[in-house]
This record gives sequence, structure tokens and C-alpha cells, in this order.
Amino acid sequence: MKALVYHGPGQRAWEDVPDPTIQEPTDAIVRIDSSTICGTDLHILKGDVPEVKPGTVLGHEAVGTVVETGNAVTTLVPGDRVLVSCITSCGRCRFCREGRYGLCTGGGGWIFGHLIDGLQAELARVPFADTSVYKVPDALTDEQVLFLADILPTAYEVGVLNGAVEPGDTVAIVGAGPIGLAAIMTAQLHSPGHIVAIDLDSSRLEKALEFGADVAIENSKEDAVQKVLELTGGLGADVAIEAVGVPETFELCTELIRPGGRVANVGVHGHPATLHLEKLWIRDVLITTGLVDTTTTPKLLKLIEAGRLDPTPFATHRFALADAEEAYDVFGAAASSHALKVVLEAAPVGQELIEELELPVTA
Ligand SMILES: NC(=O)c1ccc[n+]([C@@H]2O[C@H](COP(=O)([O-])OP(=O)(O)OC[C@H]3O[C@@H](n4cnc5c(N)ncnc54)[C@H](O)[C@@H]3O)[C@@H](O)[C@H]2O)c1
Ligand SMILES: [Zn+2]
Ligand SMILES: [Zn+2]
Repeated sequence: MKALVYHGPGQRAWEDVPDPTIQEPTDAIVRIDSSTICGTDLHILKGDVPEVKPGTVLGHEAVGTVVETGNAVTTLVPGDRVLVSCITSCGRCRFCREGRYGLCTGGGGWIFGHLIDGLQAELARVPFADTSVYKVPDALTDEQVLFLADILPTAYEVGVLNGAVEPGDTVAIVGAGPIGLAAIMTAQLHSPGHIVAIDLDSSRLEKALEFGADVAIENSKEDAVQKVLELTGGLGADVAIEAVGVPETFELCTELIRPGGRVANVGVHGHPATLHLEKLWIRDVLITTGLVDTTTTPKLLKLIEAGRLDPTPFATHRFALADAEEAYDVFGAAASSHALKVVLEAAPVGQELIEELELPVTA
């Protein structure tokens, strides 16, 4: 098969690799129908995630079709359309039993395109298939569910739920990339009073307003702390969601927050940030961190099915899966291409596979 392979910092190629095979009875092999690229893949390509070994297939977000299952897989059959999410769950370890799949110690957690071969490929081996994939309702397109593989549950769980957004709250979201925009989208499920988006880039802020922010602050030109204080009668935001991953924006969140407020960090940080305890100790603030668990994926899927959540505006560019290298160039140049998420689409399933698997024929 063909796959997008990481060859060390700055190097990647769409090339021939061996087809994946069942290695454990709990595995499934999934044919990838749609995949996408994450900001984290760009971090890997920069060499920021050294655990990713050269030779690894990248990607941790996909919708596909089950083509083979191991002997122990009981809830999936070939032909099932599934969402393969960034987090895998062994279903047995202490953390999986607490619903904290991101912390799985039984061989799951974030493994695709990280510790094992990923999903930007024609086929993928999916460990712990029964407890890790989500069946896709027939009525939904790949694009309607694809962003449930990472950005939506991440923004909702690590941002909105950790930040405990309540009706009427003023929520400040720092960073309006895909994660910040997904936080803007899912914060609205909790009826906040005001959503304030903060970013350096005016085109990202335009998107933030389209996705439901009430106020946009361009913090290269305006003093974000001053503006938030003005909007909140001098108190500060009830919740600040950090969706960038640099020290300045974490520190900004701790300055924007009202006494008794909540700072939910979502950004992946590569450098230490300063925690100003000399100012914060008396302010009763709560600071949370986290990797996504994806426990809310079924709930978000139901909201999409019910027409109450529409993630399709994230898809700004589409490429054939075989053009993954070009897709990386466009996604990596988001400042000029204005890309949010690029969708990689496999060629339609051939008649041969439909017959072999007795797949339903769709238009
Ligand atoms: N915790 C998790 O489980 C998890 C999962 C996925 C992604 N992430 C992380 O979330 C973060 C956001 O992801 P993304 O894909 O949206 O990233 P992105 O790079 O596409 O977007 C970041 C945004 O922040 C803005 N920005 C940069 N510096 C800023 C500053 N000083 N002030 C205000 N805005 C600034 C940029 O203009 C951009 O719009 C990343 O660090 C990513 O690695 C975390
Ligand atoms: Zn990701
Ligand atoms: Zn586990």
C-alpha cells in the first residue's frame, strides 16, 4: 500500500510500505476513506516529538471501512464504517476503567502516527478495535464526522469541560486555530454569555466570529487584558481557554481571568511558562491541563446526527489521499493559504472490494 511516511525532521514522503496485518486478536484492519492533518503532525515534522521514529506512518484522524478483524473482535465486521480517533483505549487498565483513555497504560492512548503507524495511509492496523473506534451512522458523510477524531473532543473536553463553562459565563479563548475555533463551537453547547476570541491573525479572528465568537481581539494591536476587563466590569473572564501552546498565551490566560475563575490549558507546550503565584495565590483560580480522552465523542456524534452541531466548515481544502504531500504544504502554510483542516479523500471503493466485502453501494 501507499502511506505518508516520516523520515526525520523536515522529511516525509508518500511511498510504498508493506500492508498492515493483524498482529493481536483485538486488532482490526481499516481501509482509510478520509483522513486529515493535525497541527501536531507539523510539530512531529519539526522534530518536536522525538518519540516518533523515522519510518513511522503519520496521522491520527480518519474515517474508514473495516476490512478484516482479529479473532477477539466481536462488535465489528468487515464493511462497517468507523471513525478512528486519535485516542485508542485498551478498555482494561485503571485509567481506561475511569474513562481516562488518554492516559491508557495498557498499550493505548495517543499511539497512531506517534508510537505505531498512523492513518494517513491506504490501510491501517487499529489496536483494541472494539473499544477504540466508533461506528458512523449511515446518514452521515465522512466530513461530518472526521473532525470528531481530534479537534472537537479535544476542545470540548480539555477546554470547555475542564474550564467548566456555565450559562452566562464570559469565555475568553486565546488562539483561533482549529482547536480554538472548535472551543468556540462547543462552548456554545453551554450557553455562555459572551465568547471572546483572541489571536494575532485577523483572518483567524474573522473565522472566530463566523464560528460564533461575539468579540474578537487582535492582541498584536490591542491590549487583550484591558479589553477583557472593560467587557466584564473590571473583573475578568470567568473562563480562559489556552489554545496556542506558548508561554505568553498561558500567562495571558492567567491575567485575563477573574478571581475564582478557571484557566483550561489545551495547548501543547514546548517551553516552560511562568506561573505568577505571587499574583495568583490570593485569587482562587483553578488551572487545568490535559490530553483529550475522547469520552465525549459519542455525545458529540449524537449532536451532529441531530443537526445541532455542524463541523463541516472546518474543511477548507480537499485533496486526494495520494496528494498528501501537497496537502501538507497547504496546511503548513496556513497563514497564506487560510487552511483550517485539509481533507484527504481516498479514491472511491472499487467494485472488487465492494463485492468481496459485500459493502453497501452508495451514490
Ligand atoms: N491537549 C490536547 O489534547 C491537544 C490536542 C490537539 C492539539 N493540541 C494543541 O492545541 C494547540 C492549538 O492547536 P491548533 O491546531 O489550533 O494550532 P494552530 O497553530 O493552527 O493555531 C494556533 C493559533 O494561535 C494563534 N497565536 C499564536 N501566537 C499567539 C499569541 N501570542 N497570541 C494569540 N494568538 C496566538 C495563531 O495565530 C493561530 O491562529 C496546539 O498547541 C496543539 O498542539 C492539544
Ligand atoms: Zn491531532
Ligand atoms: Zn487502557
